[in-house]
Formats: sequence, structure tokens, C-alpha cells
Amino acid sequence: MINLGDAELLEAQAHVWNHIFNFINSMSLKCAVQLGIPDVIQRHGKPISLSHLISALPVHPAKSRCIPRLMRILVRSGFFARAKISENDEEEGYVLTNASQLLLKDNPLSVAPFLMAMLDPILTGPWHYMSTWFLNDDVTPFNTAHGKTFWEYHGHEPNLNNFFNEAMASDARLVTRVLINEFKGVFEGLKSLVDVGGGTGTVAKAIAKSFPDLDCTVFDLPHVVAGLQGTHNLKYFGGDMFDEIPPTDAILLKSILHDWSDEECVKILKRCKEAIKGRGGKLIIIDMMIENHKRDDDFPETQLFFDMLMMVLLTGKERNEKEWAKLFSDAGFSYHKISPVLGLRSIIEVYP
Ligand SMILES: C[S@@+](CC[C@H](N)C(=O)[O-])C[C@H]1O[C@@H](n2cnc3c(N)ncnc32)[C@H](O)[C@@H]1O
Repeated sequence: MINLGDAELLEAQAHVWNHIFNFINSMSLKCAVQLGIPDVIQRHGKPISLSHLISALPVHPAKSRCIPRLMRILVRSGFFARAKISENDEEEGYVLTNASQLLLKDNPLSVAPFLMAMLDPILTGPWHYMSTWFLNDDVTPFNTAHGKTFWEYHGHEPNLNNFFNEAMASDARLVTRVLINEFKGVFEGLKSLVDVGGGTGTVAKAIAKSFPDLDCTVFDLPHVVAGLQGTHNLKYFGGDMFDEIPPTDAILLKSILHDWSDEECVKILKRCKEAIKGRGGKLIIIDMMIENHKRDDDFPETQLFFDMLMMVLLTGKERNEKEWAKLFSDAGFSYHKISPVLGLRSIIEVYP
């Protein structure tokens, strides 16, 4: 028999319900982005009334009465806010928040491609297989759902290749802006840089533009870089980072090591060490560092979400300082510096 008072019983039920329906926040947000609601509000230029919003959206007339319900939950989750339409008017309209500004389709820093990729059924499907995966010997729940690894699927399914690369490029635009505005010094004095797993080259292009004398190479799987055009100081190189990485002064690894297990990371790091051998170079890693001694309920939830994401889609994980240090020493590096300066992520510089 459950030993709870009536109030506790109801509170416990509400807690369970809340977690059962957490996905409704994600799906409501996806719907708003697909309907272009942030863009309509932005174009309006001032708080938009419900009737204006509805008339600007391509929704079926019979569904327009559901728009206030969608807006209400998105106000609750911080994506829209209410503001007076004018000084002398009591009527309120909807405005964007900082978070929904990042969902505008023509904002170069838009997170919308990342949202659309992460909430695509190819990537949400594996979550239904997590418990099956715990009981079988598949490498990841992604394998259990799709019968191949994430990267094999990526190579064979142009749709996933395109939307995933665009998702990563959108994140890269945002992080690179901060990196170049605030931490340009990290690249100062380098003559060459290879962006290992650099995707379609968003980060490397921005670095190459800011440092015209720096030779940048985007190194990624052949199907990712196929047909991409470089510039005078940027080139594309297709290959496998587990085999060989072109020689260089420095290597950038953004959102790479958290994709892989410790054993796989040590292999990648050893290939990186060979590539910078004899050049006095360094690795520049952009990834999360989770706190060493935090209690389990004290971690930022987003970092835990990413850790679970790495477990479900890939063989990777988010690491604390000790785990990072162990990887570097196992791969034969002697010194590293972790700067937790990029929001949830850190810049980690690693020296031979
Ligand atoms: C999470 S994405 C990060 C992309 C980019 N660094 C960024 O942050 O925008 C991981 C990248 O690693 C690449 N990748 C996966 N396996 C690889 C391999 N064996 N060799 C080289 N690149 C690989 C993928 O194609 C993908 O572009």
C-alpha cells in the first residue's frame, strides 16, 4: 500500500504527469517554428494581436481557434511574452523573447535547424528503444531503432546528412560568433589549423576569414565534404579521423569528442597528437565540461539532456574535469587548460 497523505499523493501524480507530458513543450515549439509564428511576430514590428497573428498564419480556418492554446503554452515556456499593443490600449499582443529570436528563420544565428533535426522522427525514434537497448547487446538505441550506427545511417541517407549538417552549422554559427568576438586569442600565432569533424566548414570559414594568414582545413567524412569549394586559405579534405589526420600546427575539435566513448576518444586524440608532432602545436576542443563533484540533482538539466542524447544516438557522453584529464593523459598529452566560458560548453586547450 502506498504510504502517502492525500496532498502528497496528488502532488506525486502531478509530478508524474508533468514528466509524461514534457514532450509537449518540445512538440509545441516545433509546431510554432513550422508555422513560422516567430517570423510573423517579428515582421509585425510591434506586439501582435491574436486576430492579426491568426490572419497572418497559413492555418485552416477551422483550426484558428486553437492558436491561442498553442500560444498560451509557449508563453508559459518562455518563447513568447504578452505586451500592451499601444500606450493607450489595454489590449495585449504577443512579442518575441530572447529565446524565440533564436528561432527566426532568417536570423543567421537561428537555432531552428537544430530544433528541426533533433525533433525529426529519425532522431526521436531511438528514444522509444532505450529500454530494449538496455537488455540487448546493440551499441546504441539508435542501432536498435535503425539497424545501423548513426554515422552509417548519416552516410546512406542524404536527408539525415543534410538536416544534421545544417543543424550543426547553425550551432557552429552561434558559437563561432562568440569565439571570434571574445576569444580570438586562442587562434593567435597559429599558421595552420585542421578542423577535425568540421562538418560543412561553418566554423573554419569564419576563422579563415578572421585570420587571412591562417591555413585552415576542414577535415570530415568524404560524403560530408564532397563537392564543397574552399577559398585561398580554406580547403576541404575527406577522410577518417581514426586513420590519419593531415599534419598541422593546431587542431579544432568542436562537438566531436562527446560523440565517442573513452576508448574511441583516446584513438582520435592519438591521431591528433601525431598530426601536430614536432610543430609545438595544440588541440582546441569545444565541448561540455560537467562539474566534478555536483550532486546528481544539481547538474544543469540541459547538460544531462546532452549526456543522454550522446548515449541514445552515439557511443559518447559528457565528461567532468577528471574524465577529460584522464583522456588527455591516456593519449599522451602533458598539459591542458579548461575554460568554461561558452555557456554550457568550455574551450579546452591541450598541449603535447
Ligand atoms: C557533431 S558533428 C560536429 C560538426 C562540427 N564540428 C560542428 O560542431 O559544427 C560531428 C562531425 O564528425 C564527423 N565525423 C564522424 N565520424 C568521423 C570520422 N570517422 N572522421 C572524420 N569525421 C567524422 C561527422 O560527419 C560530423 O560532421
